[in-house]
Amino acid sequence: CGIIGYAGHRPAVPLIVEGLRRLEYRGYDSAGVATIQNKEVELVRAEGKLAALDEKLAQVNVTNSTFGVGHTRWATHGIPVERNAHPHLDFKKNIAMIHNGIIENYQEIKTELIAKGYEFRSDTDSEVLVNLIAEGRKHSETMLDAISWALKQVDGAYAIALVSVDEPGTVYAARVASPMVMGVGVGENFVASDIPAFLPYTREVVFIEDGELVKITSSSWEVFRRDTLEPVEKEVRTINWDVQAAQKGGHKHFMIKEIFEQPKVISDCLAGRIDLEKGEVVLSEIADLEPPERLHIIACGTSYHAGLWGKYLIEKWAEIPVEVEIASEFRYRDPLLSKGGVALAISQSGETADTLAGIKLVKQKGLPIIGLCNVVGSSVARESSHVVYTQAGPEISVASTKAMCSQLTALLLLALYWGKKKGVIDVATYSRAVMDLRNIPSILEAELPAMRDKAQELSREFSEAYSFFFLGRGMYFPLALEGALKLKEISYIHAEGYASGEMKHGPIALIDPKFPTFAMALNDELFSKVKSNLVEVQARGGEIIALTNPGVDLEVEHRWNLPEVWGPLNTFIALPALQLFAYETADYLGKDVDQPRNLAKSVTVE
Ligand code: G6P
Repeated sequence: CGIIGYAGHRPAVPLIVEGLRRLEYRGYDSAGVATIQNKEVELVRAEGKLAALDEKLAQVNVTNSTFGVGHTRWATHGIPVERNAHPHLDFKKNIAMIHNGIIENYQEIKTELIAKGYEFRSDTDSEVLVNLIAEGRKHSETMLDAISWALKQVDGAYAIALVSVDEPGTVYAARVASPMVMGVGVGENFVASDIPAFLPYTREVVFIEDGELVKITSSSWEVFRRDTLEPVEKEVRTINWDVQAAQKGGHKHFMIKEIFEQPKVISDCLAGRIDLEKGEVVLSEIADLEPPERLHIIACGTSYHAGLWGKYLIEKWAEIPVEVEIASEFRYRDPLLSKGGVALAISQSGETADTLAGIKLVKQKGLPIIGLCNVVGSSVARESSHVVYTQAGPEISVASTKAMCSQLTALLLLALYWGKKKGVIDVATYSRAVMDLRNIPSILEAELPAMRDKAQELSREFSEAYSFFFLGRGMYFPLALEGALKLKEISYIHAEGYASGEMKHGPIALIDPKFPTFAMALNDELFSKVKSNLVEVQARGGEIIALTNPGVDLEVEHRWNLPEVWGPLNTFIALPALQLFAYETADYLGKDVDQPRNLAKSVTVE
C-alpha cells in the first residue's frame, strides 16, 4: 500500500493525488484522500485504481486545505470496496486515518469499543485503531498523548498517518515494521511510505524507525518515541535520485523498459566491484566478514529464485553449503542457525515483511546478515549487519525483471569472491568468469531486439495455451521456476516450473497438445539429460519451445537459439528470453502488464 501525508502551503489534495500516483505500484485496489476544512473532515474514496479517485474528485468541490493524508490500498483485511478504503474515520468523524499493515488484536479491541458505544462502518482493523485513538483523545491532554496511548495497546505491524479536527495543519504518523520516510521541505513537510511520493518537492529525507511517532506542520517536524514521547534526534539525508528514472522512457510498459535495461544493470552492479588491474572481485562491503561455514539465504518470490540459482555457484565455486528458504517458511521454523553461519537476505524492495521477519530471527541468534537489496536505505538495508546493493535503479513494474538480473550478478560476484578468499576456486575458472562477465552487457544489448521479435512470434502462436511447463536442470531449474512465475503473474496463464528429471514422476501425465513445454536446453554438461526428458514429452504429444544454442543437436517444434557464452553466464541471456516471452504473451492478450491483478510490488504485510 502507499501512504502520503502533507502539511504545507500548497493545496493538499492535488499534491497528495499526484504523490499517490508515484506510489501506485505499491498496491492499487482502492484509494482515498482526507483533509480538514472548517473543523470538518473532507473525505473522498474510490474503489479501483487512482483514475477512479480522480473521477470522484472532479465531481466534488475540493477545498484548498493545505494539509491532509492519502492512500492507495492493497487489500489484506476486508474486500476492496469503497467502505473498506482508507482513510478511515472514527465514529464521531473527528479523525481521518490511513493505515498500512495488520492489527492482530483488533477483534478484542473492537469488542471493548462496541461495549462503550462505538459503531463501525467497515470490516477493517484500521477502523478499530482510529476509534481507539478517538477513545484515547477523551482522556488525554493532546493528540500526541492519545496516539501514543492507543498504539501501546495494539499488536501487529503498521504504518499510520492521520489528521484531526482538533489540530488543523498538523499530520501525525507512526510505524512498526512497515515502511515510512519523512520529507523535509521549505514551508512544507511530508510523510510517505516511499521517497518518490515527494521527490519533486524535496530531496531531504529522514528515515523513520520502528516505534517512532512523527508530528509535522508546514514549518516544523518532530520525532518522538511512541511509548514515552521522548524526542528523538534524527539525521536528515539527501537523496540523489532522478525522478526521470522512474518514468517509462518511451516504452509501452515499465516492464519492457526494465527488461531492456538489463545490460546496464549488469554493468552498474559490476561497477567498482572488479579491480581491472588485478582482474579481481572486490566486495568491500563484506571485506570484514570471513567466508561463512554455511550460508542461509532467505527471500520471497523472484528474489527467492535468484537465491536458488546462487546456491549452485556458491556451493560449486566457494564450497560453502547453502540453504535457500522462502522467508515465510523460515520465520516460523526453528532454523538451525549455529555459529559460523551467515544469512543472506535477498530483496529488491528491502521492505518485504516476511524477509524482514526472517532477518529479525537471525539477529536474535546473533549471526551476521548480509542484505542484498536494491532500495537504498530500505528496511532490509538498515536491519542487516552488511549491505550489498544491487544498483538496479528503481523497478516500477510489479513483475520483477531487472532486479533479478542484478541479484544474479551480485550472487555470482559473491561466489567468486568467497571462492578466491578461501582459495578453493580454480584459477582458470576465476579469471574466465571475471573476464567474460564484463562482456555480457554488450552481447545482451546486441541480442535483445531479436529476442523480443522471437518472443513476439511465439506469443502469438501459444496465446491459447491453457497451461505451460517450464523445464530446466541444474542452474536452469531456478530459471524454469522464474519463467513460470513471470508467465502466471502477468498473462494469467497457468504455468509450472519443474526440474526436467521430475517430469516422469507425475507431471508428465498432464501433457497434451494444449499443454506446451518451455524448456531450457542450453549447451552445458546436462544437455543430453534434458534432451532425453524432452523426447519423453514429445512422445506424449506435447509441443516444445526450447531455449538452446546454435549447433546443438536438438529437434523440437520451436527452437530458440541464443548466442552461446561461457558456462553459467548463459543464464544472463536465457533470463531475458523468459521475461520477454511472458511480456509479449501478456501484452498480446491485452493484460495490465505493469499492474497485474491481485499483486503488489512490495508486500509489506505478512
Ligand atoms: C512481491 C513482488 C515480486 C517480488 C516479491 C519479493 O510479491 O510482486 O515480484 O519478487 O514481492 O519482493 P522483494 O522486494 O523482497 O524482492
